[in-house]
Amino acid sequence: MERIAILTSGGDAPGMNACIRAVTRFALNNKLKVYGVERGYQGLINDQVFEMNARSVSDIIQRGGTILKTARCPEFVSLEGQQKAIDTLKKHKIDALVVIGGNGSFMGVKDLKKNFGFNAVGIPGTIDNDLQYTDFTLGFDTSVNTCLSAINNIRDTMTSHDRISIIEVMGRKCGDIALYTALGGGAETVLIPEVPYNIIDIAKKLQDNAEKGKNSDIIVLAEGVCSAQDLKIMLNGVSPKLSIRPTTLGHIQRGGSPSMADRTLAANFAVRAVELLMEGKSGRVVGIKNNAIIDMDIDEAMACSVDFNMDLYERINILSM
Ligand code: ADP
Ligand code: F6P
Repeated sequence: MERIAILTSGGDAPGMNACIRAVTRFALNNKLKVYGVERGYQGLINDQVFEMNARSVSDIIQRGGTILKTARCPEFVSLEGQQKAIDTLKKHKIDALVVIGGNGSFMGVKDLKKNFGFNAVGIPGTIDNDLQYTDFTLGFDTSVNTCLSAINNIRDTMTSHDRISIIEVMGRKCGDIALYTALGGGAETVLIPEVPYNIIDIAKKLQDNAEKGKNSDIIVLAEGVCSAQDLKIMLNGVSPKLSIRPTTLGHIQRGGSPSMADRTLAANFAVRAVELLMEGKSGRVVGIKNNAIIDMDIDEAMACSVDFNMDLYERINILSM
């Protein structure tokens, strides 16, 4: 193997740049040629490919986003789109591909192997933490820290006014950003897609808390449940007097300088991914399990079922007394 390419795909995540840097420099160290692909699978289809050197990745370790840019590319889902991507890879004599992305991007890694026998490896990069085979994805830690910093500010004003705050965070269908934000932020209530809720029970808890002398509550809400505005309307439908302010954190939680945890993951994921390619192993993904870097067959990884941490969820309720 002489030439590898790297791309970022799907939603960007803090730590992607640190990972691009580590993949590039570790590969160069091992005498491989490295090519960057702009805008994910779209860039493969459009032949947006350029050779990278050690200086191409200078001064990016601390930056959020991705210098390679990213895209969602519906054309790549079709066999015709994938064939165009393969043509570009062949044109540049690229032997293997590193894909940093989430669930959808990993489907692309699977297809490249299944449909064309092309050597690709996946690095989990998404704030959502919704890949079940790995304890953590790149970007999740930074994103939760950003949410916590926002909660700190919201707390100041909500406490001063004796108000209830609903803070909506991202995560698609996964509640992990909400779960860890609620635990770290000392929230009274967390609503996530994995656990059903009852609006009357929540309204009652808010009233009970007020009677206990708790005049300001924080509800962390995962976007996969409903919007902050809709939850406010539902709660005021049950208890019209509750003074509630909804906040949707939005894309602020997807940007920013990566945390130490994400920079470390970036380096460790990158090294293992390039090692796998050098060992001639394809169709694999890297991850972290019980603090150890792992790799797994992509089919096996994608088939892992949801292993929801109910203890963590219950701990949030217990500690919010
Ligand atoms: P993420 O990788 O963050 O989950 P998306 O779900 O948007 O983000 O997927 C990113 C890209 O991966 C899509 O735009 C598409 O190009 C590719 N992709 C998604 N699903 C498939 C699929 N079933 N087969 C091949 N490629 C896919
Ligand atoms: O997958 C990352 C993510 O930020 C999700 O949490 C969110 O649902 C989605 O992407 C938002 O996508 P967009 O950037 O298209 O608004």
